[in-house]
Amino acid sequence: MTGLVEKLYQNGDLSDEELLSLINSNDEQTSELLKKYADEVRQRVYGKKVFLRGLIEISSYCRNDCLYCGIRRSNKNAQRYRLSSEEIMSCCENGYELGFRTFVLQGGEDAFFSDEVLVPIIRAIREKYFDCAITLSLGERSYESYKRLRDAGADRYLLRHEAASEELYAKLHPEKMSLENRMNCLFTLRELGYQVGAGFMVGAPYQTAWHLVKDLRFLQKLQPQMIGIGPFVPHHDTPFADHNGGTLELTLKLLGIIRLMFPKVLLPATTALGTISPVGRELGLHTGCNVVMPNLSPVKVRKKYDLYDNKICIGEEAAECRGCLEKRINSAGYIVSGERGDHSDFTASQGEK
Ligand code: 5AD
Ligand code: FES
Repeated sequence: MTGLVEKLYQNGDLSDEELLSLINSNDEQTSELLKKYADEVRQRVYGKKVFLRGLIEISSYCRNDCLYCGIRRSNKNAQRYRLSSEEIMSCCENGYELGFRTFVLQGGEDAFFSDEVLVPIIRAIREKYFDCAITLSLGERSYESYKRLRDAGADRYLLRHEAASEELYAKLHPEKMSLENRMNCLFTLRELGYQVGAGFMVGAPYQTAWHLVKDLRFLQKLQPQMIGIGPFVPHHDTPFADHNGGTLELTLKLLGIIRLMFPKVLLPATTALGTISPVGRELGLHTGCNVVMPNLSPVKVRKKYDLYDNKICIGEEAAECRGCLEKRINSAGYIVSGERGDHSDFTASQGEK
């Protein structure tokens, strides 16, 4: 099985059958070699740098009803909140002082955050923090809306594709959501000049190794600048409450495979990975990850942005999260970068390829 890792390292790709057997393998030597090569490739491209993204969770309202997600519309127990413009600006101010040069505004699909509300917020952040990247993660919107937000100054957009197989996508989402629309949104974002992040959960209910191969193939087609993956973690108030979560081993394996298939991609060690293991993010960093996304949201709302059970960092102040992560990054042998951390194809011309 280590032969497959060698081949993936040499060629940056494998056949579907080979990927399937690599994903299904339980061989420790294989995982060790994958980790070694993933780290080698990440260091070749990015050195020991880790980029930080300050995550601001602006709303826990959501019109969607994804079966895995704790803030789905049908969850009557979910606590809803939305941040005011002033609160968002004060998170940025706090974040800027802590050294963040990317702000990620993330939230459920909340109709309150119309273009009319978002545009002035994006403009204000753009104006005050001209040296920072503005990332949005606000779900599916129209072409027109993505365009207005981009024109207002947003640089990047995170929208996980969640599952590239129609059949699995339909099992994870309500009928009115479609993979086709999701993919159209991603291609639109790319066309509008956003740096795009896609991704999926590892170990989602009903997911097989074959579905993961489909995800990798879709990512090859889209070529996003960032790939966000983390383990599925069940939420007690969702239809998937009794399903098993994704494992650390499988998530790390996918991270390693992704680093070898996409040498230059931005790859976060996610909060979900840190949730299923106390050293999950550190292991992620050792397996090809080069981004972490500390929480910048006001502490009073953190536990309400409750996508899955046992989420970490909900009791910490932003400064503590920043400090904690820097310590973790350093002790894993990497260094925090003070840069915006654009994808290497974007850095030269600040946004234009
Ligand atoms: N477990 C892990 N990740 C989840 N997400 C949503 N619900 C869960 C869960 N139960 C992820 C989705 C979404 C991102 C913001 O969080 O992939 O795109
Ligand atoms: Fe938030 Fe460690 S990253 S406390």
